[in-house]
Amino acid sequence: MGTAVGSWRPAMLAWVLVLVLLAGAGALENGLARTPTMGWLHWERFMCTTDCAREPLSCVSEQLFMQMADLMVSDGWKDVGYEYVCIDDCWMSLTRDDQDRLQPDPERFPSGIRKLADYVHSKGLKLGIYGDVGNKTCAGFPGSYGYYDLDAQTFANWGVDLLKFDGCNYGTQDQLAEGYRNMSLALNKTGRSIVYSCEWPLYMRPMQKPNYTEIKHYCNHWRNFADIYDAWNSVKNTLEWTALHQDSIVDVAGPGGWNDPDMLVIGNFGLSWDQQVTQMALWAIMAAPLLMSNDLRHISPQAKWLLQNKDVIAINQDPLGKQGYCITKDNNFELWERPLSRGSYAVAVMNRQEIGGPRIFSFSTSFLGNGLACNPACSIQQILPTSEDWGLHDWVSFLNTEVNPTGTVLLKVVVIGESPAEKPVMNINKKPSPDIL
Ligand code: GAL
Repeated sequence: MGTAVGSWRPAMLAWVLVLVLLAGAGALENGLARTPTMGWLHWERFMCTTDCAREPLSCVSEQLFMQMADLMVSDGWKDVGYEYVCIDDCWMSLTRDDQDRLQPDPERFPSGIRKLADYVHSKGLKLGIYGDVGNKTCAGFPGSYGYYDLDAQTFANWGVDLLKFDGCNYGTQDQLAEGYRNMSLALNKTGRSIVYSCEWPLYMRPMQKPNYTEIKHYCNHWRNFADIYDAWNSVKNTLEWTALHQDSIVDVAGPGGWNDPDMLVIGNFGLSWDQQVTQMALWAIMAAPLLMSNDLRHISPQAKWLLQNKDVIAINQDPLGKQGYCITKDNNFELWERPLSRGSYAVAVMNRQEIGGPRIFSFSTSFLGNGLACNPACSIQQILPTSEDWGLHDWVSFLNTEVNPTGTVLLKVVVIGESPAEKPVMNINKKPSPDIL
């Protein structure tokens, strides 16, 4: 018995250690956002539309969020993982109530946020809300400065599940940092599970290099870069920024804390089909929160297929929780990869060229995963723009892929071990037929 306990203890300790490491030491340990948050956020599509008489279908009102919650359930969004229905700026009254609490605009949210949260919860979904670290929100509504505890408690009392905390009008750099820290602690004190979405590094960077270890200690995700627009330029700039800063932002991401390149604008007006594919593929590679900002009442079957693609979502939500990175830029192509659980890799080939037609990118499997992704062999599945089996390959296979301008081909590379049972029949130099693209 004594020996059994003796040998059991170190093994148990080792497991605990492994679990702690997997949990990402130093992350905001509120148990939330173990994989990137998925949901819907009103800002990019509906902005600060407040005139409901003029624009009843697109004003920021309880109606809008109830409709989105309904559709998230009826149209399959919830089934594939989209869970948080999130309110952004412009939900508030211009003044606090007589007890200094934030209150919603009475015309647009006549039932109040508590009722809205109940409704969203009754659908099996969660509700997100928006506040600001400074004196006023970006659109000029009351900020939380001086009221962090009260506002956190108000949100908790209403049954809110996520807070997007903006950084407009923050005052000094110290106030910015203090504010983000204090709101995190205030949310924690309420005892309610509330995902904390920050914009701290975005506001801090112009003055000071962000300390991502600290930011991850307080936030579940954080914006680094400018607001996304419904335009290729905006998606492109976001990707460019991310690749340029990957050495300082990739390693910190993991279960509990994620870099947030902002909303998915797929299903709107500004991106071509190939550009929408690029956004979805690269947001999966970047382990980004998948917060759609579109109109679920009017969305094309194609955009819905893309946003609901289970293989892409599985890459985004991979439990290993490692963010991907750009391995090489060559001849206006970019090759990105993301390590996945069980030694697999997601690989994206993006064609950055905005002139001409589809172009072929050639690369060796030995480029991938530091030579390990396909060593000794692997099977490759193309996930976007269409699903296609690329078959079995070995560690020096040469791959050719045709990519449309501003489009992306997303692959999943599953390593195959050396055990005799798994020994593959090789399909070296397989070139996928161009007609699949
Ligand atoms: C911006 C923020 C946007 C949106 C907007 C609301 O600063 O980055 O995502 O929340 O404020 O006014």
